[in-house]
Amino acid sequence: MQKYFKIALILIAISSFTACYYDKKDQVYPQVVVAACDTTNVSYSVTVTNILNANCNNCHGTSANSLGAGIVLNTYASVKPYITNGRLVNSIIQNGNASPMPKNMAKMDACSINKIIVWANRGAINN
Ligand code: HEC
Repeated sequence: MQKYFKIALILIAISSFTACYYDKKDQVYPQVVVAACDTTNVSYSVTVTNILNANCNNCHGTSANSLGAGIVLNTYASVKPYITNGRLVNSIIQNGNASPMPKNMAKMDACSINKIIVWANRGAINN
C-alpha cells in the first residue's frame, strides 16, 4: 500500500513541476511577438504597388477620380516624379513639407512607410 502511495506522490510531484515549467514559460514570453518589418526585397511591382493600392489609389487610381486632385499613383511612370520631387515621402511621413497623406486619415502603419522609404532610398527603380 505504501508503495502505491509513494508512486502517487512522485506522479503528483512530476505533474506539478510540469505545471511550473509552463507557468514560467508564460512569464518569459508574455506578448505576441510583433512581426519585424522586412524590407529586404522591396520592389515597385509588388511592395509599393500593394501599399499604394490599399491606401492611396481609391483617390489616386485614375486621373478621372476627382478625389485625388488629378494626381495619379497607379503606374511606375506616374509615381516616380512624386518620389523624385520628395512629395510622396514627405506626404506619408507627414513632416509638413507636403499635404499629409492618406488625406484625412491616420498615418499608414510604420512598416508600410518604411518600405516606401527604403524603395525610394534605393533609387526608386522599376523593379
Ligand atoms: C481621400 C482621398 C485621398 C487619399 C486616400 C490619398 N490622397 Fe493623396 N491627395 C489627395 C488630394 C485631394 C490631394 C491634393 C492636395 C490636398 O488636397 O491635400 C492629394 C495630394 C497628394 C500628393 C501631393 C502632395 C503635395 O503636397 O504636393 C501626394 C504625393 C499624395 N497625395 C500621395 C498620396 C499617397 C502616397 C497616399 C496613400 C498613402 C494618398 N495620397 C492618399 C487625396 C487623397
